[in-house]
Amino acid sequence: MRVLVTGGAGYIGSVVVEELQAAGAERVVVLDDLSKGHRQAVADGAAFVQGSIADRALVARVCRDERVGAVVHMAASSLVPESMRDPARYYANNVTASLALLDGMRDAGVGRLVLSSTAAVYGEPERSPITEDFPTRPTNPYGETKRALERALASYAAAYGLSFASLRYFNAAGATERNGEDHDPETHLIPLVLAAARGGREAVAIFGDDYPTADGTCVRDYIHVSDLARAHVLALRAEAPAGTGRIYNLGCGAGYSVKQVVATAESVTGRPVPVRLAARRPGDPAVLVASSDRIRAELGWEPRKDLRAIIDDAWRWQERRGRYRG
Ligand code: UFG
Repeated sequence: MRVLVTGGAGYIGSVVVEELQAAGAERVVVLDDLSKGHRQAVADGAAFVQGSIADRALVARVCRDERVGAVVHMAASSLVPESMRDPARYYANNVTASLALLDGMRDAGVGRLVLSSTAAVYGEPERSPITEDFPTRPTNPYGETKRALERALASYAAAYGLSFASLRYFNAAGATERNGEDHDPETHLIPLVLAAARGGREAVAIFGDDYPTADGTCVRDYIHVSDLARAHVLALRAEAPAGTGRIYNLGCGAGYSVKQVVATAESVTGRPVPVRLAARRPGDPAVLVASSDRIRAELGWEPRKDLRAIIDDAWRWQERRGRYRG
């Protein structure tokens, strides 16, 4: 199959491109505006188009010219704190621009989509682990925009015959040989912890230690970016009758607190990680842990790497490469 990957120059997108190629995709085309991504992150052999998903005519043209059969849609704004400060950017990029992408796909007759969605759609869950049928009550605009887009997909499926899978990611981390995390500014816990271990920053702020968790710090479900990426390949391969949509959580089902992440990083790197206590970060739920039973049962997905392996790979990538240049 010929697959268009929006956001394929980004952190997770670049690894999805790698996995698609490894799985023998006939052709992979990346559409990315490089606002966050890196041209060098796009694997050799993938076609690259620099442009915006908001450009409906461009999307339709690329889909027709490349005879695209399915789209993996990962181009988005994805930072909870930024979404609290600047919701307009999140509605524009994640909803309005995504609707243009869907319409460009319709114009070109492309009827399959895999969406990069998020655990942030759930908000503060009443129980743990989270299954897909939990109520969606986002606590930040980022989660609101992804929920809005999932609803649009359901409407498009019913009316236009789109088939889609929405993958609700928990906390992606880790790296491959080729690609890893290089955000500017970096806000994610694991790369910040590793930068502190390296001495590249003074200390990691722990955002709140008075949450209702065992050690008072927030608990998250960390998933290796390669495990995450493999799920996209499985979702693309699965039977997907026109007009149907599936939703899958993607996490490992294990929760780690911020303090446990710091301790694991100290153990992996053999270096101390200086920390300082800071105020809670607005929009952060206390605990987000996935039940991924559905994707395991329906698509045969299994995570291969635990937190230690995730941190080890991220550490090696930082040592080997650290940043994309140019
Ligand atoms: N944290 C700190 N200090 C830091 C950075 C983070 O204590 O310097 C804490 C956060 O408060 C949070 C945890 O570490 O409790 C993880 O924070 P990240 O910023 O790494 O990740 P988030 O959980 O905020 O968000 C990530 C993705 C979202 C996605 C979410 C789903 O960025 O897109 O996971 O769980 F929605």
